Amino acid sequence: MSIELDNKAREILRKNDRGGYTIPTARLYPYQWNWDSAFTALGLSTFDRDRAWTELELLLEGQWANGMIPSIIFRSDDPDYFPGPSVWQTQTSATPPPLIPSTGISQPPILASVALALVESGGADDLQRSSQLIDKMLSWHRWYQTERTSAAASVVATVHPWETGRDNCPDWELGLSTMTIDPRLEPYVRKDTEHANPEQRPSKEQYDKYLSIVKYGRESGWDQRALTDTGPFLMADPGIHFILLRANRDLLKLAQRLNLSEQSAELEKYIELGVQGSDYFWNETIGAFTARNIVSGEYSNGFSNASALCFYADAGTETQRIKTIENMQRIADKVDYMMPSWDPDAEKFDPQRYWCGPIWPQMNFIISTGLDEQGHNSMAEDIRRDMALLIEKSGFYECFNPFSGEGCIGADFSWTAAIWLAWASPSHQKMAA
Ligand code: GLC
Repeated sequence: MSIELDNKAREILRKNDRGGYTIPTARLYPYQWNWDSAFTALGLSTFDRDRAWTELELLLEGQWANGMIPSIIFRSDDPDYFPGPSVWQTQTSATPPPLIPSTGISQPPILASVALALVESGGADDLQRSSQLIDKMLSWHRWYQTERTSAAASVVATVHPWETGRDNCPDWELGLSTMTIDPRLEPYVRKDTEHANPEQRPSKEQYDKYLSIVKYGRESGWDQRALTDTGPFLMADPGIHFILLRANRDLLKLAQRLNLSEQSAELEKYIELGVQGSDYFWNETIGAFTARNIVSGEYSNGFSNASALCFYADAGTETQRIKTIENMQRIADKVDYMMPSWDPDAEKFDPQRYWCGPIWPQMNFIISTGLDEQGHNSMAEDIRRDMALLIEKSGFYECFNPFSGEGCIGADFSWTAAIWLAWASPSHQKMAA
């Protein structure tokens, strides 16, 4: 069973290859996505290291002059996808325009952590390839400090739910509920609801708001400071915060291996800021790190799978970590498979709807990695075993129902195949042991 699934996972990655970069899944997501590509590179590295590095190099080709790596790189204009390059219009609005058309917002910065993992599991060639990328990765991390940090909170902010990668999580209701739909919003036709069950996708009102933010960005000439300072949506995401803190730590390790002292000093500064910023997310009522509306200071009211990433970032006090584990135990007792994207005891939980409950494989991978590193080995192993069971039961889906284990939304999904190969598969576990 496990060997068959290993083969199937490799077949999916090959099938989703578009010539040096990998799409998440055909039709629903026909471009190169930022954090998808990084996770995919980990899977590719289990059977083709050269191709894994190419994945990262092509992602960096989409980098903007200001350092931002956009959430999606549009190397073509696929009529099957909305909102595509003609909606974002980065080529005509941004100054300077990016080399390749893309969105005008970013996605969780997992890239540096993947680059370090490739170096740590590889040899001299891997170190050499990483040395070509390190300054570019650092300039992305710098962008978070210069363009996405709000004076109102001294933590990295997010200007669009899509930038968090947890697109439709109830966390974002706080910021969306206080914004208005732009009355000048052009009429549009969604494509996602043609390729996936509309019951599992965001509502029309949410979509109108998502597009109102895009309109604001476009009309500001994709001025990232303007988006952060005066845009319609401004929240802080524990997911971006913890992933960035971890990525800064990992990039520092890489800079040290490459003897780059200036870069190391800069990264040490960012790590310090990240460690200090963690408290901003601490929600005493829930006993967890949660999202916050930067404008009102209000906390979100549920434990998300991003709340569980404090271990991965090596952040939080002993008490904060104990309370986080207690929440995770409460949730584990309730569901059949871990780790749902939204708290089953919170309002708006829905086991099948996008980021309102389903389990996301790439999140499980980093949650479990963090737990394992911080000594919570049995919970880490439970999460890995659940992930393997879900894939064995339902296949390589984008996400899974935490009660029935049913696969949801996209099938033959790249990051699911990748994390199977690099982490969840019993054959990988045997090799690692
Ligand atoms: C959805 C997810 C996002 C992911 C993208 C491609 O938009 O919410 O995290 O990157 O699909 O898989």
